[in-house]
Amino acid sequence: MHVLTVLDHPDPASFSSAVAQKFMMGAQAAGHSTELADLNAEGFDPRWTVADIEADGGATAPKDVQVEQARIARADAICLVFPLFWWGMPAMTKGWIDRVWSWGWAYDQLNDPEKSLQRARTGVLLIAAGARSDEMEQEGYLTAIETAWIKGTFGYFGFTRRDLHVLNGSTGSAPRREALLERAYQAGLALKPPL
Ligand SMILES: Cc1cc2nc3c(=O)[nH]c(=O)nc-3n(C[C@H](O)[C@H](O)[C@H](O)COP(=O)(O)O)c2cc1C
Repeated sequence: MHVLTVLDHPDPASFSSAVAQKFMMGAQAAGHSTELADLNAEGFDPRWTVADIEADGGATAPKDVQVEQARIARADAICLVFPLFWWGMPAMTKGWIDRVWSWGWAYDQLNDPEKSLQRARTGVLLIAAGARSDEMEQEGYLTAIETAWIKGTFGYFGFTRRDLHVLNGSTGSAPRREALLERAYQAGLALKPPL
């Protein structure tokens, strides 16, 4: 498969950047080709503008959006890597989704997340989170992520296989971080084709 990894972090020395690298190493070890979209390094503009509104179902989308859509078109599996910010996505990832997965290109209705316009793909979410897993479960944050991103967002993306890894304790001890990086590697190694 061809695997696209979308990384949102401005610091190449960050934990999230290491997660993206480990995931790609795992995917390569499994025989997949990989491509990295390093949104901050590439200077992607996450702001939704009038040009996006006037994109007319993708046909006249802004050039930078078309570049990202071409990346998606050649990918069989897509992995998003970002740190959890205020129990949500950082602005760069949010804007990339808002602009690139547009009305008329990714979806054309709002009733059924399982009716994407896109072909079936495998989707992976690798989210670095400072919080503990029990805290996230008790407070309902994990359920919120599963509903909004795995069911809603990945559904409208057309992802038929969906894999969520919340990497809790990302700011913890070195052994803890090593274990999380190993999990990212295994996620790449275990990638399966879309259903
Ligand atoms: C602006 C900001 C908001 C954050 N919000 C959360 C949060 O809501 N939940 C959480 O578990 N961690 C939160 N964190 C912690 C980050 O997830 C953590 O710093 C990150 O995973 C560390 O990885 P990095 O080195 O790749 O940045 C936040 C950090 C920042 C800077």
